[in-house]
Amino acid sequence: MILVTGGAGFIGSNFVLDWIKTVGTPVLNIDALTYAGNVANLASLKNDARHHFERCDILDRPAMAALLKTHHPRAIIHFAAESHVDRSIHGPGAFVQTNVVGTFNLLEEARAYWNDLTGDEKKNFRFLHVSTDEVYGSLSPTDPAFSETTPYAPNSPYSASKAASDHLVRAYHHTYGLPTLTTNCSNNYGPLQFPEKLIPLVIHNALQAKALPIYGDGKNIRDWLYVGDHCSGIRAVLEKGRLGETYNIGGNSEKNNLEVVKAICAILDTHHPQGAPHEKLITFVKDRPGHDQRYAIDARKISQELQWSPQEKFETGLAKTVTWYLDHSDWVKGVTSGAYRQWLDVNYDDRQ
Ligand code: NAD
Ligand code: TYD
Repeated sequence: MILVTGGAGFIGSNFVLDWIKTVGTPVLNIDALTYAGNVANLASLKNDARHHFERCDILDRPAMAALLKTHHPRAIIHFAAESHVDRSIHGPGAFVQTNVVGTFNLLEEARAYWNDLTGDEKKNFRFLHVSTDEVYGSLSPTDPAFSETTPYAPNSPYSASKAASDHLVRAYHHTYGLPTLTTNCSNNYGPLQFPEKLIPLVIHNALQAKALPIYGDGKNIRDWLYVGDHCSGIRAVLEKGRLGETYNIGGNSEKNNLEVVKAICAILDTHHPQGAPHEKLITFVKDRPGHDQRYAIDARKISQELQWSPQEKFETGLAKTVTWYLDHSDWVKGVTSGAYRQWLDVNYDDRQ
């Protein structure tokens, strides 16, 4: 069995579904079900005995200890986090709690559990920490992409809290020998992403003929990684990664935000012609404070050491993503309730 934290969120649930399909061994899925966690993401596993879900907060140490003891996992894959930069600007406290203190708690409980293992079980145990390229800070358009040796320079409360958690993971390997692995990936997109992040927010707004808010001039650049490629990258690191190492995972798809939004509009014009051209909804709004200019990933290490490379092209991945949202309006309805609308008021009302 493997233990996954945050497996009801966007990437975690894609990972659990992908794991059951490709590897097929049991998964213990632990998630606090914050606003970002959604058991509906796992509906297709309802009658699958290989998936065991526990609603649990990683801040609850006794509960984490008991789950480790009872289920005896061979690995922990740690996704659970507060993950949205804009929310971290409005309320950084939760980011410090879950991302820093929560990861610390998990490391402590993992260390105690691992110390009691013996033989091959001890040798083969892994703690894989899922992190972000945002810990490296911001690039100019001409800077070389982030590599695993780029110095950390986080700029938002979100990226600072993730950077802190990465440092703790590193220290637990260096000091206690805990068999850790860390991945730093770029912006994910794909099915099951909560519509607060750029791509699902724009699809959702366009389908309702609402403004498509672009922060600043729309020239900020992100590297876009299809979530299925991220899942295969994590599996490669888990099985073949060198202990204590970090691996960057990227999508080979640098785009500025305006390009991304226009690409979504073009796909919608074909698949949902009502309201075309959707580009007319594009609205430039007040910029995000401290908005990082560019993220880019140098993924040579994972490619050369572990023979992993992304399979999805941005154009095909984006088309699949838009189609998924068009085909899953019930899922979208389920996650865009009152709390979601309150968030839109908080984040967008004073940007006009
Ligand atoms: P998400 O916000 O969609 O999901 C996070 C999940 O963690 C939710 O299910 C939530 O309920 C759960 N959670 C939050 N606090 C918890 C707690 N205290 N205890 C237990 N569960 C808790 O996030 P995501 O986009 O799926 O990101 C997953 C991981 O990948 C995060 O660690 C994030 O930093 C990292 N990451 C994400 C991206 C991206 O583009 N989305 C890019 C790079 C790295
Ligand atoms: P986001 O999806 O929040 O991811 P991150 O901030 O972690 O990169 O944002 C992606 C980019 O899109 C980022 O440059 C901010 C921008 N953005 C907008 O222009 N408008 C929006 O409404 C949102 C949510 C993001």
